[in-house]
Amino acid sequence: MKTDKILDIAKRRGFFWKSSLIYGGLSGFYDYAHLGAALKRRWENAWRRFFLSMDENFHEIEPCQIMHENVFRASGHIDSFIDPVVKCKKCLNVERADHLIESVVGGSFEGVSLEDMSRIIREKGIKCPKCGGPLEEVGVLNMMFPVELGADGSTRAYLSPETAQGAYVNFKQEFEVLRRRLPMGLAVVGKAFRNEISPRNALLRMREFTQAELQIFFDPERIDSHPRFDEVSGYRLLLLPEKNRKSGKVSGVSCSDATRFLPRFYIYHMAMVQKFYLEVLGIPKERFRFRELVGDEKAFYNKYHWDVEILLESAGGFREVAGVHYRTDHDLSGHQKVSGESMEVSIEGRKFVPHVLELSFGVDRNIYALLENCYREEKERTIFSFPRRVSPFDAGVFPLVNRDSLPEKAREVQSMLTASGFSVFYDSGGSIGRRYRRIDEVGVPAGITIDHQTLEDGTVTLRDRDSMKQARVSIEKLPSALSRFLDGESLKALGKML
Ligand code: GLY
Repeated sequence: MKTDKILDIAKRRGFFWKSSLIYGGLSGFYDYAHLGAALKRRWENAWRRFFLSMDENFHEIEPCQIMHENVFRASGHIDSFIDPVVKCKKCLNVERADHLIESVVGGSFEGVSLEDMSRIIREKGIKCPKCGGPLEEVGVLNMMFPVELGADGSTRAYLSPETAQGAYVNFKQEFEVLRRRLPMGLAVVGKAFRNEISPRNALLRMREFTQAELQIFFDPERIDSHPRFDEVSGYRLLLLPEKNRKSGKVSGVSCSDATRFLPRFYIYHMAMVQKFYLEVLGIPKERFRFRELVGDEKAFYNKYHWDVEILLESAGGFREVAGVHYRTDHDLSGHQKVSGESMEVSIEGRKFVPHVLELSFGVDRNIYALLENCYREEKERTIFSFPRRVSPFDAGVFPLVNRDSLPEKAREVQSMLTASGFSVFYDSGGSIGRRYRRIDEVGVPAGITIDHQTLEDGTVTLRDRDSMKQARVSIEKLPSALSRFLDGESLKALGKML
């Protein structure tokens, strides 16, 4: 299975593996190894480049991840950030109720009421998967990790279950220092923590994970407009509305047609999110969709909630990797009430609490989705055909052979490219064919080889991972050629084809 192959490469080559492995590992925790960390950084930077450039009043901040308990009283997480659980009467094992039912009955039971889940468990005769014992009624468990601070442990705080709250508690100060303008965006790329009952599928459901979230604070009276809406009005969103759930039919709906059921500010950002997946990450159209969530399926703070889902073999279907959330004034009004600090702004003579549109991405899930979507098997090699700008390294630099001054020349080229800002590595081990296979296997887009001709005419070969074709490029022009190659230019435009 593809999943096993990816997990094997991840372990063997150094993308990720279980955390605390020398002590047997810890369920729901993964460490990124050197290639995985590099890939994740590249994904995060692509995300920053794309979303922060949408508006000059969008900025990145870095709030703490351990936060005051009142933050989560105000946000509703203490009361509402709960998972349905069911306990075994005999061995006291606790399972996540909806997942247990799904594993027996199939389908999705997320958002189903506790009473209905208890009924299904009774009707289907579902027993404890560990000991076969009878199960109690379905109850709830809060998913946050509490932390007791200080020597006497008397101050209660929580590890933040979403980066979003860090943006909300900083809203008022940022609004003041950024000269009181809306929309204002605060992005956070950081860790979040959830005590998942059943962490599973490697990077897809973890207890410590990374989110990239952009909180866009805006005037609710302007929700049905966006200054650049015209640029996307004909763009077709790939939607699975609730009414199409059964058939699974994804409809291509133009942004202007989507105004029949969603406001323009929301639609514009859906379009941008879809463009990020299709155009920056290269996810094929047929593997992407927005899924509408309704009623109790929606996160408790959302008025509109469409998840971004990508088709993943390892998850047996489409799987959530991001979400577009209209959180209204839920969070800012909550913080105003609990903290006593006003969250109101005054713009053009009107006073109001801004509303929030949140673009929320689970980075680890996205990394996994990228690995799965980019994995290819060919006759003589396996490759990750990552987008060129979102791969662990830009290029490998190779001396053709380990003599005749080629290693020294290759080191020179490596230093020159590093100094020009590229992430490149040097490899002189094994035949050149083997070295190419090794970079293909981890998805490095370019191979640069220094050969005897280099010493004569100052040119190197630039090899494209996907086509395996090569062009000769002069060392002088290599930085600009590599940069253009990474931006998507074909080899033909960059030098003489071999
Ligand atoms: N901040 C939204 C989420 O964690 O899903």
